[in-house]
Amino acid sequence: MWGHLVQRARRPLGLCVDSQASHGDVVRYRMGSTYVNQVTHPDGMQHVLVDARSRYVKGTVFDKTRPMLGNGLLNSEGEEWKHQRRRLQPAFGHRQLDTLAETMTAAIDGVLKEWKSVADSGEPLQLFPALEHLTLTVVLRSLLGGDLDRNAADIGDAFSVAFDVTNRRIRSVAPYWPRMYDLPTPANRSFHRAQGTLDGLVAEVVARRRGAGSDSQPDDLLGLMISAAGADVDGGNSQELHDQVMTMVSAGHETTATALTWLFYLLDRHPDVNEEVFVEVEEVLGDRMPTAADLPKLGYLRRVVQETLRLYPSVWALPRLAVEDDEIGGYRIPRGDIVLLVPYVTHRHPDFWSNPDEFDPDRFLPAARQDAHLWSYIPFGSGPRRCIGDNFAMMEAQLILAMVTQRFRLRGLSDEPVEADASVTLRPRGPVPMQIEPLGAPHLG
Ligand code: HEM
Repeated sequence: MWGHLVQRARRPLGLCVDSQASHGDVVRYRMGSTYVNQVTHPDGMQHVLVDARSRYVKGTVFDKTRPMLGNGLLNSEGEEWKHQRRRLQPAFGHRQLDTLAETMTAAIDGVLKEWKSVADSGEPLQLFPALEHLTLTVVLRSLLGGDLDRNAADIGDAFSVAFDVTNRRIRSVAPYWPRMYDLPTPANRSFHRAQGTLDGLVAEVVARRRGAGSDSQPDDLLGLMISAAGADVDGGNSQELHDQVMTMVSAGHETTATALTWLFYLLDRHPDVNEEVFVEVEEVLGDRMPTAADLPKLGYLRRVVQETLRLYPSVWALPRLAVEDDEIGGYRIPRGDIVLLVPYVTHRHPDFWSNPDEFDPDRFLPAARQDAHLWSYIPFGSGPRRCIGDNFAMMEAQLILAMVTQRFRLRGLSDEPVEADASVTLRPRGPVPMQIEPLGAPHLG
């Protein structure tokens, strides 16, 4: 009666890994009244995300995020999405990102000063929540400048509640009925309270900025969005700006925090790689702050980030809903089925990766990737709906890795492996406590 609902709820990652191992790269299973087609071959990814993309929409999982994110870039479809993407793309171009590097390093430096106090206290650092706080700070500063600095704690708390309830809604196996989010359950009530706080704060900033007009905007992402909207700014697009801010903050902090938690966990377990990171940071930066111009010289750090995202892609599965019949790898996909692309499995697929479970950043040396299947590695998705924040995230991760390496040594407190909790993102199960020792020149701490 339930099909694979129970396995999906209990062991989502295990179900995907096991079914690919026993049945191959297209596997169809039933979850209640819905059929899911799991696709793990790179050709299948390319088919769904590019060649046959008009046969798919994002579907129910994304609809469940609408109460939090509205109809921003992540959730919109068709012409509306195209219009939004065209408007937002310039804000994420290389030139704009280079100007953001300084904002990012200042934000990272501020938060790492808080880590120094933890180090001095001798208490362990709870790595995952600490990185969530760090990446939230970076994305808020990059997006809104200092406009919400004094409300940072309220925003952090409200985001965490709204995120948690949204995650539970996505994981829920109950049939989707949007009206049930209006029922006065404790979870819905805390969601509405948190969402009210966020909506109020974001609306206030958007109103203030719009009041300033499109010619006198600061150099942050919201400023660029308002300038890009140009004449439309006075035409009642506050809701769109609000939805984009909520979308960028949501899509842009937990994903990066998750990836960085796995990164520091992997470095702790691979002292040889950690040492190479340390040597590169010493050679390129010494004790000075990194700049955008340093990033191309920090190639090993980049490969460490890439390899972490191979083993632990924050977005471990990409769901789509078939709105027309299709065929993938010789299997019929009926309209109304869900197609679940699973980068976690593709990234460890033995046909495309040698020693797939080994952590080896040098597999991302350009020569080593020369003959690789382009679609065997898609941590940021691909095709037109590829992550708009990919370069932002890579830059942020490289900067955080460099600045943490200059200042601290992190050591895990347990030899037990950290388990992955495949929710919307591939979170570590638990806070991942680490002993944190200060290093380096005193002015850096
Ligand atoms: C390590 C960090 C990140 C990872 C792994 C990641 C991953 C992804 C993936 C896989 C998608 C495609 C989803 C799909 O096709 O269903 C996506 C889309 C998106 N991401 Fe990211 N992301 C990251 C960071 C960011 C950041 C920093 C931002 C913004 C500041 C961001 C904003 C977005 C948006 C707005 C979309 C929707 C794009 C569209 O549909 O046009 N992401 N991301």
